[in-house]
Amino acid sequence: MSNDSHRFSGRTVIVTGAGAGIGRATVERLLSEDARVIAVDALEERLAHLPEAADDRLVVVAADITDPEAAARILGAAGAQIDGLANIAGIMDGFEPTAEIDDATWDRVLAVNLTGMMRLTRAVLPGMVERGRGSIVNVGSEAGQRGSAAGTPYTTSKHAVNGFTLSTAFFYSPKGVRCNVVAPGPVATSIEAPFHSEWAQQRLGPLFQTNLPPVAQPQQLASAIAWLLSDDSSNVSGAVLSVDGGWAAV
Ligand SMILES: NC(=O)c1ccc[n+]([C@@H]2O[C@H](COP(=O)([O-])OP(=O)(O)OC[C@H]3O[C@@H](n4cnc5c(N)ncnc54)[C@H](O)[C@@H]3O)[C@@H](O)[C@H]2O)c1
Repeated sequence: MSNDSHRFSGRTVIVTGAGAGIGRATVERLLSEDARVIAVDALEERLAHLPEAADDRLVVVAADITDPEAAARILGAAGAQIDGLANIAGIMDGFEPTAEIDDATWDRVLAVNLTGMMRLTRAVLPGMVERGRGSIVNVGSEAGQRGSAAGTPYTTSKHAVNGFTLSTAFFYSPKGVRCNVVAPGPVATSIEAPFHSEWAQQRLGPLFQTNLPPVAQPQQLASAIAWLLSDDSSNVSGAVLSVDGGWAAV
């Protein structure tokens, strides 16, 4: 997507989950608005397919955000001035209800969706505070607004993303750093969401048939993320913005 806006001229923004779906659309949107983008994904081959940017404004970093060393490498690639961070990388669970959770799924979902986000946010904050300016956008989910949109591990992780965001906004808004959530409903991406539970299928299936809004395109999420990263949202911090076609209103 290209447009006439230059909201990110001279700005550097880190985007995780940059190789596909909402992350990729966000990279494209930010590049089209003149940002310098640090594109992070665990799958290196996906980063190879990102569009070229003029003036070397695109820097790719293959990194798994659950790796404790990842944040230092990403910040090293970004350089001293980081204006924005979009924590977009995330994975689904297998719609496991509580009694059917396996430890590996629980640990992985929380590690990617929550701990990875925390580590990178923790790492960028000191520089943002020093400059008195920064915007952090965390991608949550409609599953962070209710109990009936995913399995228990994913639902737990996305509710925690909201809490993490509110607490970060509380502590750092007075220092000039804003922190917000974009909460998507269903979006056409490569995320995998297999049903591993018969009980979950019985319980959620009818709700999904009647309540789900139309599937959105990743660009519709990218425009909201870009808005929150930009100065156009300069008085918004601690918000959970549903970008879900009205699902949260059901
Ligand atoms: N697609 C939806 O319907 C939907 C709905 C609500 C919320 N979300 C959220 O949107 C975000 C983006 O998801 P998407 O739908 O674009 O998925 P996607 O699978 O298309 O893209 C996610 C990208 O993140 C990368 N990634 C996964 N784990 C990583 C890790 N540990 N380190 C670095 N990169 C990693 C993947 O390689 C992938 O390229 C996620 O946080 C997801 O929970 C998606």
